[in-house]
Amino acid sequence: MNKAPTMNRKLTAWVDEISRLCQPEEVSWCDGSQAEYDCLCSEMVNAGTFTPLNQERHPGCFLARSHSSDVARVEDRTYICSEKKDDAGPTNLWSEPAAMKEHLTKQYKGCMRGRTLYVIPFSMGPLHSPIAKIGIELTDSPYVVVNMRIATRMGQAVLDKLGDGEFIPCLHSIGAPLEPGQKDTPWPCEPDPAKKHIVHFTDEGAIWSYGSGYGGNALLGKKCFALRIASVLARKEGWLAEHMLILSITSPQGKKHYLAAAFPSACGKTNLAMLQATMPGWSVRCLGDDIAWIRVGEDGRLYAMNPEFGFFGVAPGTSSNSNPNAVRTIERNTIFTNVALTPEGDVWWEGMDVPAPAKAIDWEGKDWTPDCGRKAAHPNARFTAPAAQCPVIDPDWEKPEGVPLSAILFGGRRPSRIPLVNEAFNWEHGVFMGSSCGSETTSAALGKVGVLRRDPFAMLPFCGYHMGDYFAHWLSMVGRTERVKLPKVFFVNWFRKNADGKWLWPGYGDNSRVLKWICERVDGAGKAVETPIGILPTADAIDRSGLDMSETDMRELLSVDIEGWKQESSDIAEYYNKFGDRLPQSLRDELAALQRRLNR
Ligand code: OXD
Ligand code: MN
Repeated sequence: MNKAPTMNRKLTAWVDEISRLCQPEEVSWCDGSQAEYDCLCSEMVNAGTFTPLNQERHPGCFLARSHSSDVARVEDRTYICSEKKDDAGPTNLWSEPAAMKEHLTKQYKGCMRGRTLYVIPFSMGPLHSPIAKIGIELTDSPYVVVNMRIATRMGQAVLDKLGDGEFIPCLHSIGAPLEPGQKDTPWPCEPDPAKKHIVHFTDEGAIWSYGSGYGGNALLGKKCFALRIASVLARKEGWLAEHMLILSITSPQGKKHYLAAAFPSACGKTNLAMLQATMPGWSVRCLGDDIAWIRVGEDGRLYAMNPEFGFFGVAPGTSSNSNPNAVRTIERNTIFTNVALTPEGDVWWEGMDVPAPAKAIDWEGKDWTPDCGRKAAHPNARFTAPAAQCPVIDPDWEKPEGVPLSAILFGGRRPSRIPLVNEAFNWEHGVFMGSSCGSETTSAALGKVGVLRRDPFAMLPFCGYHMGDYFAHWLSMVGRTERVKLPKVFFVNWFRKNADGKWLWPGYGDNSRVLKWICERVDGAGKAVETPIGILPTADAIDRSGLDMSETDMRELLSVDIEGWKQESSDIAEYYNKFGDRLPQSLRDELAALQRRLNR
């Protein structure tokens, strides 16, 4: 073991304890330096985990291929272990903490044999931010170390800031000990799905993850800490930990608004966060693409901060058409996982606006040709890239207190019923909108694709406590301070289709037209009409200049399908039953009011 570079007794004692339990060959304290990163990358190249890309075209870029059983978050193996079962609520898997610890301790015993235990000190939030929180991840995966260095602020500076203070312990093992003489594989992990566990001890604030090396299962700062554990802390401390992007939009007159938006996984959050406005003179800047920590500021406004340091974006579908700024972000110093490799050392995936290569190596390492009937990249293939490399990163993205929000957006993939944009009547109605958020499922989590799944606030897989209490917490923001000045709330849907199954809205950069209307509404303008479901733009309110789109399509996009909404409201009523008496009365009232308005 290299000498512990910290005097934090709790930390050194915990590292000793885990090291006795997991029995790694050695312990390595990560300093977060470039030299350490480079060394781990070259070790992974030698081990076959990493393939360097063509370094002339993609300096500092590597490709990793995961095991085919380890490709996404495992929601059916993700637990909230609160002391009381009721505190986890109906949307989480629960297990009794002591029993879970006993069970997992057996799995952790000797699980790091033949491997190195890396100690990763990391900060969620800029180091100089008073609201940043520190975690320590112990892992036996060098892939996790290098990804955490991109995705979080990591290393010695974090230990220096930590001093004797408190941290969230995050234990991770891939669950693949190496016996003497045993040959390693490029992506070792626990092969038995029943042994994979992503566990959150929410009362004490600790994370234990076992068996997977992929994404949110293993990079514990992200979903596990910054959402599940942080949501519990946020409730206690009076703030919000949300699955939201943060962006700014500036008008040609120089007026700037900050917006946060929650969409379920793989609904284009990263695309919206880095959007290139199609209207002359308007510019959008990115502050974060996945997570926002939101607090009431001194002036009563809500301030949002991105606790992450990098992007862990879905590669398939990313192109210079859908997201030109992401394409530029990932030109260098990027780790690609489960994309295809061309003979020239380039990466390729479905939905890239570069023709498919005549041949490639697919994400499973097999020879691939365009006619082979298989996808070249896994649909949940990812890039890990430093946020600072984004060409449209907002200069305020590391502001210690965050940025003041003018509006909060909810959305989802809804091919029918839901209009392009809908403004909430007030905060309670906005919370109602967030609570009834839903989307057609995609490949970010294992499971069926293409069915409507209610995903309140896009937090279904990420809320660390009872969803009914979470709704109440959102509602409580109204009374946080005397001067509270909450942002307006909107529901957007880029995915509505016509009767022939064609998208009605062009999406991508043209979504800036909807953002423009939202800014106008915030500024007290923007033509609008009150409907039973909320405040909608009039058919001429959304700027269509330069856009080849008919008035008929616009009317259809903004139409309120009363019969469809009656059905929607009974679906919501049925969904609400899940939450029993923990569903706040004001949400029942909102639903009843919607039903009354629909029947008027
Ligand atoms: C993600 C997700 O990876 O939401 O960001 O699944
Ligand atoms: Mn996400």
